[in-house]
Parts: sequence; C-alpha cells; structure tokens
Amino acid sequence: MSDISRDELDAIYAFAVELGKQAGQMLKDAAQLRMGGGGNTKAQDEHVQKMNSVDLVTETDENVEAFIKTQITKRYPSHKFVGEESYSKGASRDYLIDESPTWCVDPLDGTVNYIHLFPMFCVSIAFIHKSKPLIGVIYAPFINQFFSSCAGRGAFLNETQQLPLIRNPIAPMPEKAPAGCVFSCEWGKDRRDIPDGNMHRKIESFVNMAAELGGRSGRGGMVHGVRSLGSATLDLAYVAMGSFDIWWEGGCWEWDVAAGIAILLEAGGLMTTANPPPDEATCPIPDVKLGSRLYLAIRPAGPSLTETGRQSQERTERNTDSAFDSIASSGVKYSL
Ligand code: IPD
Ligand code: CA
Repeated sequence: MSDISRDELDAIYAFAVELGKQAGQMLKDAAQLRMGGGGNTKAQDEHVQKMNSVDLVTETDENVEAFIKTQITKRYPSHKFVGEESYSKGASRDYLIDESPTWCVDPLDGTVNYIHLFPMFCVSIAFIHKSKPLIGVIYAPFINQFFSSCAGRGAFLNETQQLPLIRNPIAPMPEKAPAGCVFSCEWGKDRRDIPDGNMHRKIESFVNMAAELGGRSGRGGMVHGVRSLGSATLDLAYVAMGSFDIWWEGGCWEWDVAAGIAILLEAGGLMTTANPPPDEATCPIPDVKLGSRLYLAIRPAGPSLTETGRQSQERTERNTDSAFDSIASSGVKYSL
C-alpha cells in the first residue's frame, strides 16, 4: 500500500466516514428547508445552469463542497483536493489526479434528483493514492443508505452490512448474462438530437440490452430490467450491493465514479472500460483507469461448478460489450 501505512489509512477512513455523515446531514437539512420543515419557510434552493438546462448546480452543491474542502484542508493540508464545483470554476481542464494523496469529491451527485426531491441523491467522497481509489464514502440521506469501504477492510452498507448483500454464497453471474441481469445506465446530459450523437448511441445500447435474444441483429441482451437512478455514484454502490448486475456509462468525470469504484472493488466487483480486448485467450480484461471516461462495472460474483467468479464477470463483460459496439468503437469524446 506504498507510503501510507495501514494505521494512517485507517485513520483517513475514520475521518472520511465522519465527514460523509456530516456532509450528508447538510444535504438532508437543505432538502428539508426546501420542504418548509422545522418552521422554516425557505422554499427554494435556486439552481443555475452549467453547460445546458439539464446540467445544474445549486447553492447546496457549493456549500457542501466548501464544507468538505475546509475540513480536509484543516486535517490533511498536504493532500490534494479535486471537487466538482471547484473544478468547474477553475480555468484548468487538465486531468487532475496524479500519484499524490488526493480527495475526489462530488458534494451532491444527482443534483437533478435533489432539485425534484427524487430521493436518489448523495454526497460522494473518495480518497485516492497512486491513482487508486482506496477509500469510498457515499451517503444518500433521504433513503438512509450510507456506503463505505477502505482497501483491505471490506465494503459496507450502513457500516454493518457487508457487500454484496447476497453472500451465502455470493451468486455467480447468470449463465446467459446479460440475460437475467439488471442493467443500469444513465441518459446523460448531452441531449443533442443528432443521429451520431452521444444520446442516440446510448439509446441504441439500452435497446440492445433490453431486446429479446436474437433480436437487434444478434445484439439483443434480454436483460431482466433497465434502470437509471440519476446518480452515477449511487449506481456503482448498487452494483457493489449486487442489486444491479451491470452498469455502463460514458462521459463520467472522476468525482462521479471514484468513491463508487473504491466500494465496488472492495466488494469484489469488476470495473473496466467498455472496450475489452478482443482476444479472450491472450488478453486479460484490464482494470479500470480512473479518468478513462468510459466505464463498465460488473457486480461481485462467486464461483460456479465451471467458472471462477472473475471468469463469470469477464464473460459477462465480453457478452455485454457487443451491445455497446457503436459507442466503444466510435472514439466519441463525451463532454457531459
Ligand atoms: C451526474 C449524475 C448522472 C450522470 C452524470 C453526472 P451530477 O452528476 O451522476 O447520473 O449521468 O454524468 O454528471 O451533475 O448530478 O453531480
Ligand atoms: Ca454533483
């Protein structure tokens, strides 16, 4: 684990857990203010647009990020901080995560959900070292779900329930996966209605996953269901739980996925890019690189009589990928 000792990492984890709880409480308080709770009459948390009318930021995003940044800077002044709102305001568009100890934070993931009081919104905090997300904390206060993980310590829901949820035994991936899987994906913020644009490519992939086996020129996945929570980091927490089997996304920023990756990997999930090497025999599926913008996550899987859990995850990845051909091979640069 390099130059951060076990004890140091455990202390950072304990700090991150407390920080997540406080930040999540701020989100909950802000939402309740909007509901007029506790005699307060502040009805609105004004939002403004960033890149378009579905890319939004509220005062709460800003306040919670400022709080988290201040706490981290006080406790760990030598650590780097990358937060969605600070990054959006800065001039640099460089890839900011390097080998140094870095905090990567989305103060409010699922801003559209928060604005509409659809309860799938959360704070997402990751601690990264040597480019690897080692600690993840995700707190969705409206549904009382607190996810946390630290490398070597396991991944948990509400600090006691180890992930994945089904673990006696941990189920292998379905034999005909993606058939029989719950597939999660997001519509994204790029709504340009152009045939070769991101939105159309995504929709094509969703339909491929849903269509009957043999349909869509052999790309039909016949998944059990297609879900969109509206929060990429919660999607990943749900893959870590095993409630989602497969998650795919193109265009996520590091703060959208860093905490979710930490939790998913610690739970035993697979995180890779949506572009596996073609030759199964000689090229293993590569581990994800934070910053790749294209991600495919597979839930934790146990062994069957014929495969290890990892083999069943890789089989699922390769079979799923045919649904995404148009995206993975397009070289499209997702900007939202
Ligand atoms: C967004 C959500 C959404 C995902 C976008 C993210 P925000 O984050 O996670 O599900 O599709 O890529 O930007 O704006 O709510 O923090
Ligand atoms: Ca956000």
